[in-house]
Amino acid sequence: MFSTGFPFYLAPMDDITNPVLRALIAQTLPKDVSMVFFSPAINPNSIVNRHHARDEDVPINPGEKLIYNIMSGESDLILKAMDLLLKNNPAGFNLNCGCPRGKIQTAGRNPCGVALMERPDLVAQIIREAKKVFPCIHFSVKIRIGVKRDIPKLLSFCGMVQEQGADALILHPRTGEEQFTRPVDNGLYNQVRQTLTIPLVGNGDVLDDEEALALKQRYGLNGVMIGRGALAHPCIFRAIALRLQGERTRSFLEEPMMTWDERRDFLLQYLTGLNERYGEALTLKRFRLFCEWFRRGMEFGLVLRGPLVKAKSLHEMQDAIQKFFFTNKKQILSLV
Ligand SMILES: Cc1cc2nc3c(=O)[nH]c(=O)nc-3n(C[C@H](O)[C@H](O)[C@H](O)COP(=O)(O)O)c2cc1C
Repeated sequence: MFSTGFPFYLAPMDDITNPVLRALIAQTLPKDVSMVFFSPAINPNSIVNRHHARDEDVPINPGEKLIYNIMSGESDLILKAMDLLLKNNPAGFNLNCGCPRGKIQTAGRNPCGVALMERPDLVAQIIREAKKVFPCIHFSVKIRIGVKRDIPKLLSFCGMVQEQGADALILHPRTGEEQFTRPVDNGLYNQVRQTLTIPLVGNGDVLDDEEALALKQRYGLNGVMIGRGALAHPCIFRAIALRLQGERTRSFLEEPMMTWDERRDFLLQYLTGLNERYGEALTLKRFRLFCEWFRRGMEFGLVLRGPLVKAKSLHEMQDAIQKFFFTNKKQILSLV
């Protein structure tokens, strides 16, 4: 796996893991630690034909190591998009074979997302051609168990990914049909591990630093990818890094890392950063989405939801945040 020596990754999340959020998370890391990020799903069609520009997800922050997360089943388009995107000097590419959303699975000429796991022939062609044309460029594949649970089929798919020359496999051990219902089936890492020599990254339901470190060790994973857990606790990567450096011994669950005021400042900074980059309408949408997960990482977080849904402007959003943190800080202090 392309690595900076810190094998913990922020999972790609549409509309959420944009450059503004990635920059804020990178800032939380200790000075001598950097991490690899993944872009939200990028449709090569929009890169090549600019039919519906999602250009906002393409920029790479200064000094950032970003892997473009490609959502398509069309090998010719993918190659053209890779050629164009390489001008931005990304750290590599990843093929999304995990998205369970029905519309996306059938959006193009070929299936994409988790539906691609039903078409190992297409995936083989995509990896083979990508590695033939760009042999030195990192190319990983992110999968689920499959559309349905069929373990022999999963193992054969993983073997194919490796044989065709992919550099790493990222596994979110749920089926497409399960979406996010049911806990992840971590036991599958052992089986997949045995069929692979390329790096295996585990993903799914990691909510704190303790679990991230334990998962990696328990299953001999080469890395761990964290999505929603990092939105609830944007300091999760800092916590992991400090524990690896021996600077902390306890999880942030026992010894909090972000104070109440730091959480407020993080939100306000994110809101301002989004607005500077995307303008008010897209900012409000992206900010609300992020807060759906962020609020779960703090006491009284549910109370924040209503005011954020109601806020119709940046100003109202800022007001709602200030009010929430001011009011609930008093409650929190009275509980201590
Ligand atoms: C809101 C949201 C958006 C997502 N968007 C993408 C995406 O664009 N591309 C992708 O490969 N996976 C996407 N995912 C899946 C995540 O990358 C990850 O595999 C999944 O959330 C499981 O990890 P977690 O339990 O740590 O969140 C998304 C997940 C969520 C919750």
